Amino acid sequence: MIKLRILAVSVVLLLASAAIDGSAQNAQLASPGIDARVESLLKQMTLEEKIGQTVQYSAGFATGPSASNLTYDELVAKGSIGSMLNVVGAERTNHFQHIAMEKSRLHIPIIFGLDVIHGHRTTFPVPLAIASTWDTAAAETVARVSAEEARADGIDWVFSPMVDISRDARWGRIIESNGEDPFLSSALARAWVKGYQQSDLSKPDSVAACVKHFAAYGAVIAGRDYNAVDMSELTLRQVYLKPYHAAVEAGVATVMTSFNSLNGVPTTADPFLQTQILRKEWGFNGFVVSDWGAVGELKNHAIGDGPTVARKALEAGTDMDMEGNLYATDLAGQIRSGKIPESVIDEAVRRILRVKFALGLFDHPFTAVSPAYTPTPERRAIARKVADETMVLLKNDPVSGSAALLPLSPSLKTVALIGPMADDALNLQGAWTVTGDPKNVITLKAALSKRLGDKLLYARGCGLLSPEDSAALRGVTFTGTTSGPSAPVLDGQQAIAQAVEAARKADVAILALGEPTNWMEGEAASRTTLGFTGAQQQLLEAVVATGKPIVLVVLAARPLELKWAAKHVPAILQAWSPGIEAGPAVEDVLFGDVNPSGKLPLSFPRAVGQEPLYYAQNPNGRPANGDLSRMPHNAQEKMVSRYMDEENSALFPFGWGLSYTRFSYSQPTIDHAEIPMHEVTQNHQPVVTVSVDVKNIGSLAGTEVAQLYIRNTSASVEQPLRELKGFSRITLAPGETKHVTFPLGFDELNFYNAGLKKTVEPTTYDIWVGGSSLATAATTLKIIE
Ligand code: NOJ
Repeated sequence: MIKLRILAVSVVLLLASAAIDGSAQNAQLASPGIDARVESLLKQMTLEEKIGQTVQYSAGFATGPSASNLTYDELVAKGSIGSMLNVVGAERTNHFQHIAMEKSRLHIPIIFGLDVIHGHRTTFPVPLAIASTWDTAAAETVARVSAEEARADGIDWVFSPMVDISRDARWGRIIESNGEDPFLSSALARAWVKGYQQSDLSKPDSVAACVKHFAAYGAVIAGRDYNAVDMSELTLRQVYLKPYHAAVEAGVATVMTSFNSLNGVPTTADPFLQTQILRKEWGFNGFVVSDWGAVGELKNHAIGDGPTVARKALEAGTDMDMEGNLYATDLAGQIRSGKIPESVIDEAVRRILRVKFALGLFDHPFTAVSPAYTPTPERRAIARKVADETMVLLKNDPVSGSAALLPLSPSLKTVALIGPMADDALNLQGAWTVTGDPKNVITLKAALSKRLGDKLLYARGCGLLSPEDSAALRGVTFTGTTSGPSAPVLDGQQAIAQAVEAARKADVAILALGEPTNWMEGEAASRTTLGFTGAQQQLLEAVVATGKPIVLVVLAARPLELKWAAKHVPAILQAWSPGIEAGPAVEDVLFGDVNPSGKLPLSFPRAVGQEPLYYAQNPNGRPANGDLSRMPHNAQEKMVSRYMDEENSALFPFGWGLSYTRFSYSQPTIDHAEIPMHEVTQNHQPVVTVSVDVKNIGSLAGTEVAQLYIRNTSASVEQPLRELKGFSRITLAPGETKHVTFPLGFDELNFYNAGLKKTVEPTTYDIWVGGSSLATAATTLKIIE
């Protein structure tokens, strides 16, 4: 009988999920067993206890402005707190959990959340760097290791992955993203969720993931953090929503709202996003948490007073109030008076409890205290391998007629290592790590000294900030941001002169430049310029003036303006923020122990004025096809979509990345050059396959990321000039050829029409395959009536 009932329930669930767009539900959260436990508990809860479940406080440290100063022990004992963030370490989480389990009336465990952004104790490269691997397995591994380490520290829930499409390098949070492209970002979103949750939240080393920030936070106007977003629903659906949807389809247990408003509605109070799209269309069945203080900040958006905005947020579908303190104070009266139906809070509590049950928190609420963390050789090896893969070789020209400058020759007698990033553990670690310890970071100076001994000359050259800014910020700290060296360091002309001297004495100079990741990257770190900070450009120019061969290693996790460098420096390696294995990973690539394989997950501009810059732009009526590097000479050259003072194209385009070997692509072929439309629309399986042979035509083994782009040449709504729709990472021995196939079907070919319906129409798709978004090897696919 019981079996029959379960069967009946699952049939209903299957039918319910058939009505939604994709099989988005997390099956575990829909389990009848969990449902029964939730319902039985809910029946016993008072209104105050229900509200308590929707309240989250930061009881450790603040990652935003603080809303309260309360005694957490008492609140937990009263059942007034459902979740805590920023409480790290088994002793500390157990402290609160014991109170919840032993002193609160219903013994409901706390769920502990934390920003685990690029590793927990082991700091990996930042997410944007990981995106440049185009290696979903790498992202999954990072998430897997992070989950194990977080769980050992009492953390059940990580506020990651951040999948906001990021097309504006002025926005500091670009470093937390997967870059500009919905296809790549969606693939990575799935991998992060899988690594954290292992498709089974009840495993002792799984954590609940939290996809954020819902939605479209990456499109804040002018790249200024927390600013408004204004975009068409078509672009929202076609581009920005895709990675969040991918995470939901991968079963993500929670979603975080964003700080921005979208088309005039703050997302934290937006029923269209939280209820219509997320739950009704996608079938999301986890819970939604606000971003830090975002419920309270609705008052600043001027959409109502405290009680009004608390009601709006809850009714929109924001189930938990992170450090906002409004649900705790402003809901009970409105529910008692009937202004908010009790069913609304019940539903929020159900969603939260389901995740707690699925994580096994009721049955295993405590965490065994583990020994203090030190990075093991195994963890270091993983961190190094991932960091190796993130390195993008932007440029590698021959120097004075001989071979390309990189990899560096083992016969070099003297190497100068210059620049403020060379020995800066804190900034090499990268922005936004709560538990990462700079002491674990092996710097470039440490790694290269070990390799080269006396052959290495080192000069810092300048600081990352101007001497005035450094002095003003010395000693200033807040979470995730410290001011760097506490003692004054040599700066100014004398320091640059020392660096020039070192370069003169050396056969080659490696310049390690970047930006102060802990001040100028991540949250609240927007910029209006994208040049090197402080005196670094001056340092670069002075060292280049020596005439010595220069390798520029860019240690910044956003696209900087590299136009001057690209013109004057023969070799440029984009190394991002590599984490604890920074030095060894850069060393691996500079000396050729590892052949670089990273590809840019976003476009690098020539000038900041091009931002937001992305390759998948829509066509316009006056395309600029001529030579844009000079002033226009006639109306044909002038009256087109262009800048007067700069080219339109990226300096280094999306998908770009060189190798120490070379790859050739055959003419791509397609198994059906024409296909009837109904075959594409009637099933969501691939209907054609594009194939290409990729050959390693150099003398070293190497890894290539073969990329497939399409253009819909005739649609009822204009379509981008190119869109990524497939990629494949392949490793080839010298002379080896691999046959690579790309399946295409409705999922890759569809677009949103003017009625906002996903559609495929009769048309011809141009298709290119190659090693970047500039790919030229082409074929076509015709969709016929
Ligand atoms: C604010 C950030 O926007 C979000 O990404 C983070 O998870 C929360 N603070 C919690 O610290």
